[in-house]
Amino acid sequence: MDNFLKNYKLEGESLAILAYPHRALTSPTSLVTEFNAELAELCKNMLYTMYNAPGIGLAAPQIGISKKLFVLDVDFEREIIELPDDKQRIELSDFNPQIFINPVIETVGSDKFINQEGCLSLPGIFEDVERYEKIKINYQDLNGKHHSLEADDMLAICIQHENDHLNGLVFIDRLSQLKKLFYKKKLSKK
Ligand code: CO
Repeated sequence: MDNFLKNYKLEGESLAILAYPHRALTSPTSLVTEFNAELAELCKNMLYTMYNAPGIGLAAPQIGISKKLFVLDVDFEREIIELPDDKQRIELSDFNPQIFINPVIETVGSDKFINQEGCLSLPGIFEDVERYEKIKINYQDLNGKHHSLEADDMLAICIQHENDHLNGLVFIDRLSQLKKLFYKKKLSKK
């Protein structure tokens, strides 16, 4: 079922990405229980949507599906190719798509670090967020098979960010009370 991940080709359907404060982004999610062709199709479309956004991660609530599932790729290259007449073409390559179903994160050690984050559901906002440096994630693949992965650096940040979406949290929820209120006020006025 997850064969399309090997020798990945950028194909699928574009899904609409919901913007904060859409209710789907602050709602709880339920476990994925059916590992079928429909789930594979959804993941394929989520990856396609993520790459074209472009973003390095996309969680199911961001497209209005309240299920425990996210996709990511912290490795792909995005190149802007200048064409005549001031036109541009964007070329994506070196794909390394990953799919995490029913993930559970365990922290490994207590070290934290701070990095700038953004989110496809909060366009134009970039803020420093504190995250665990090293994590272990238990998850299922498209066939329902269980896996365990240790992650650090960019992958660890991305996993923690996407996993927050599954708990109805966005990255501004991780900021100081003052900043959080500022953004919440600003975004609900739109
Ligand atoms: Co996000």
